[in-house]
Amino acid sequence: MKIIEVAMLGLGTVGSGVIDILKHSKEKIRQITNTEFKTSKILVRNIDKYRSLYPDLNLTTNFEQISQDQDIKVVIEVMGGLHPAKEYVSELLKQGRTVITANKDLVASFGPELMAIANEHQGRLFYEASVAGGIPILRILNQNYVGDQIKQISGIVNGTSNYILTQMADNNWSYEQALSEAQKLGFAEADPTNDVSGKDAAYKLIILGRLAFGINLKLDQIKMMGITEIDKKELAVIKKFGYTLKLIAKLETQNSTYYPVVMPMLVSENSMLGQTKNEFNGIEIESYAIGKSFYYGPGAGKLPTANSVINDLVAVAKKEAPFKTDWNSVSVSVKDIFTRQYW
Ligand code: NAP
Ligand code: HSE
Repeated sequence: MKIIEVAMLGLGTVGSGVIDILKHSKEKIRQITNTEFKTSKILVRNIDKYRSLYPDLNLTTNFEQISQDQDIKVVIEVMGGLHPAKEYVSELLKQGRTVITANKDLVASFGPELMAIANEHQGRLFYEASVAGGIPILRILNQNYVGDQIKQISGIVNGTSNYILTQMADNNWSYEQALSEAQKLGFAEADPTNDVSGKDAAYKLIILGRLAFGINLKLDQIKMMGITEIDKKELAVIKKFGYTLKLIAKLETQNSTYYPVVMPMLVSENSMLGQTKNEFNGIEIESYAIGKSFYYGPGAGKLPTANSVINDLVAVAKKEAPFKTDWNSVSVSVKDIFTRQYW
């Protein structure tokens, strides 16, 4: 039996889910992977907030206690934000550690740089939980589309905005009421601005673009519109015609030109995307060999997201290689979707 010491940066919604699953599925994980993941130090800002809930955990506010402990081989980053997450993850990868992150802001903004550091220092970076919460979409793209050619990837990839739109359209809630509930349920980011502006979905589209097409989109290449201006009266009228509004992230390609967009779009209520409600995500992939396939499941929340982190831990135990993202050497041309007939 192998024992791997695992530290964690953050113990909020996702971090607490990781502790929960590691405790409840300890025996099954051990039997399948022949590995025991031993929870080591956990970094938070305010220890008092967690002490009574987690009396047995080794909590610290000092990152160096983790970075200097050479027994820790794997670090799970679930603190969020760009800084100091980037500095912490870079430091760990430079030391040849394995890092698992759920942080799409970090992976979208600095993924190639972090992967280069990892490659240079024999570190490894895993990030399944960064897109679509509990749906293993990155692993599916990395493993199941190698011989296929993807034409288009599109769908709902932000749980908070989908929760808000669902509650406004189906239950006549106000935008503010729905956002506040999404925050209480742990779906929203610590600062929910990116959830509702479309930026969180755009970050996820960048990561999907790397896995689906091997391209590296920049944030300012993505046409982006959020849900803040949507009125529930507008949603009620749309509903009468059998439609609903969804925040759709979409990336399609034709002749090495890519058309990325994140914006609210009308979808038929009876369609699979129309039936993707609350915090659930739904992603359609259209490809040469498979044709159309649809991946559906919880896109945010404690346990579904933590399960994706655990899948990365299992990948570490099985010595799987991190995702391959830099395989497309064509020079990428991006065009604004509005220059084409779309609707
Ligand atoms: P959260 O509930 O706000 O928890 C963040 C945790 O990190 C807290 O324990 C916080 O400690 C700690 N932390 C934050 N900044 C820190 C710093 N500078 N130093 C030390 N500790 C720090 O966040 P979350 O919802 O779990 O999200 C974590 C990450 O997962 C984010 O990148 C998010 O985008 C991603 N994610 C979240 C979900 C979801 O459904 N929530 C789904 C997929 C991906 P204190 O409480 O002491 O401040
Ligand atoms: N805030 C994000 C969302 C968490 O609502 O989709 C999952 O990435």
